[in-house]
Amino acid sequence: MVPLLLLSLLLLLPVPAQVLPLPNAGDVCIVGAGISGASTAFFLTNYTSTSAAPQLRVFERRPRVGGRLGTVTVAGDHFEAGGSIIHPRNLHARRFADLLGLAVETGADDDWLGIWDGTRFVFQTLRPPPPGSSWLRRKLHGLLNSLLLFNRYGLSLLKMDRFVQEMLQRFMLFYNGTDSRPVFVTVEEMLKWTGLYGLTRRTLGEELTDAGLNSRTISELVTVITRINYGQSVRISGLAGAVSLAGSETGLWAVKGGNWQLPAGLLKISNATLHLQEGIDSITDAGDYYVLKSNIGNEYNCTVTVVATPLDEVNITFSPPISIPPRKMQHTHTTFVRGFLNHEYFGVSSSSDIPELIGTMELPDIPFSSISVLKKYNEDDMTYKVFSRAKLEDGLLDQIFRRRKETIRINWAAYPHYEAPEAFAPIVLDGKQLYYVNTFESAASAMETGAVAAENVARLIISRRRGLEPHIQSFLGDGDEEEVRLDL
Ligand SMILES: *[C@@H]1O[C@H](CO)[C@@H](O)[C@H](O)[C@H]1NC(C)=O
Ligand SMILES: *[C@@H]1O[C@H](CO)[C@@H](O)[C@H](O)[C@H]1NC(C)=O
Ligand SMILES: *[C@@H]1O[C@H](CO)[C@@H](O)[C@H](O)[C@H]1NC(C)=O
Ligand SMILES: *[C@@H]1O[C@H](CO)[C@@H](O)[C@H](O)[C@H]1NC(C)=O
Ligand SMILES: *[C@@H]1O[C@H](CO)[C@@H](O)[C@H](O)[C@H]1NC(C)=O
Repeated sequence: MVPLLLLSLLLLLPVPAQVLPLPNAGDVCIVGAGISGASTAFFLTNYTSTSAAPQLRVFERRPRVGGRLGTVTVAGDHFEAGGSIIHPRNLHARRFADLLGLAVETGADDDWLGIWDGTRFVFQTLRPPPPGSSWLRRKLHGLLNSLLLFNRYGLSLLKMDRFVQEMLQRFMLFYNGTDSRPVFVTVEEMLKWTGLYGLTRRTLGEELTDAGLNSRTISELVTVITRINYGQSVRISGLAGAVSLAGSETGLWAVKGGNWQLPAGLLKISNATLHLQEGIDSITDAGDYYVLKSNIGNEYNCTVTVVATPLDEVNITFSPPISIPPRKMQHTHTTFVRGFLNHEYFGVSSSSDIPELIGTMELPDIPFSSISVLKKYNEDDMTYKVFSRAKLEDGLLDQIFRRRKETIRINWAAYPHYEAPEAFAPIVLDGKQLYYVNTFESAASAMETGAVAAENVARLIISRRRGLEPHIQSFLGDGDEEEVRLDL
């Protein structure tokens, strides 16, 4: 009853047309120059006429834009160090790349995967045919791999695929036109409208067991994928898990030269004033505007303030204080190694028997989540990317690798530590003009979810500043359904 009621209320909300002016357009200040902040800037300008476009300021603590998107350079090559893959059905990212004229590249779909249990590879796909092999040979290889997978995991593969496709189909509703898609005031409403909310209430393991997957598929294949994409086990919540599984499909792509160019380009075409190396230390409500104090002693008056960074590990002082549900970020240590793996560590007789993508099961003694080959220079000289939950010390790396020429370590506060049922911070943090994009990450964290959340925040800002929806509190569901019903 209640969700239906909410839905009908939301559908009644007038939705911004493309070119109405934004009244009293003062400064809109955005804290964070990652994909969430840059997408917010983009949609704010894209949904307002040029004459009414707000003055945008974007503050970024780091000396560069991109947030958790960035590249490292090993032996002259650039590799993605943070968010690295984009799903073919991520339409915002796709549109951004087209609009910005960025070239994209799709990854190879036939990784040589080995699943490691700490002592042996419990399952392996076939090693890929040599480069330059015929079309027929590559087709045959793909077919044999499918047979191998089917032989071990059976119908669970199809059930897993159905689970992911159902999620994607619901997620696609976020791209519906603005006339059929409401502006949402909470993440819960966004998820309920698409039918995805239930998935955030239970763990991925529970969801997949109900979907009929066998326990071997869950503890091997699914676990390998969640450990690679979110650094966590199948105890993550179902929606994050489904998004993670979608990240193992074919057709994944990335921006040539680095995904960070998406936020960089969006900020540029939004004409946002970018303040690099200027972090925001405090946000104070001054009545009609907010005073933002930066860590280099500047002050800014902002009519609207958008927090576009996870609040979990930054020290921003809000006055008056705000209260949001506690959330931990999952740290992923990304280690780039140029060198060569030690076949003895993996218990195989020769280095040519080590798969190019080593995924791992959820077992206490495995010190890394995955190891993948990024580039082969020759048979015993490669660049690898290793994910782990803790820093990999030199002593351990010296066991895993026979030779190391270069090692680069990055510690990312990468994504939330998911725990079903998820609790969501509000999008409107103070009931006024203080917004929070990254609350949506508690549902699932990805470039595209950042863009989807940002688009909704931009529409919410525009519609609320037009006074179309002044009584936002009544939609927050204070248990006053009776009164709401009367209003209808
Ligand atoms: C808004 O986005 C569309 C593509 O989605 C693009 O064609 C148009 O140029 C954009 N307008 C502005 C002002 O950025
Ligand atoms: C979303 O858009 C599709 C296709 O445009 C339409 O068929 C569908 O009814 C829309 N869904 C909602 C909930 O508005
Ligand atoms: C950005 O600035 C340029 C040059 O001043 C102008 O041509 C363009 O229309 C502006 N774009 C937006 C979205 O305001
Ligand atoms: C902010 O607004 C107040 C009140 O109008 C004004 O006194 C102050 O100088 C402004 N600060 C900045 C940095 O513009
Ligand atoms: C935030 O403040 C706490 C306590 O003052 C400190 O330990 C922590 O390192 C700070 N975090 C950041 C990201 O500055």
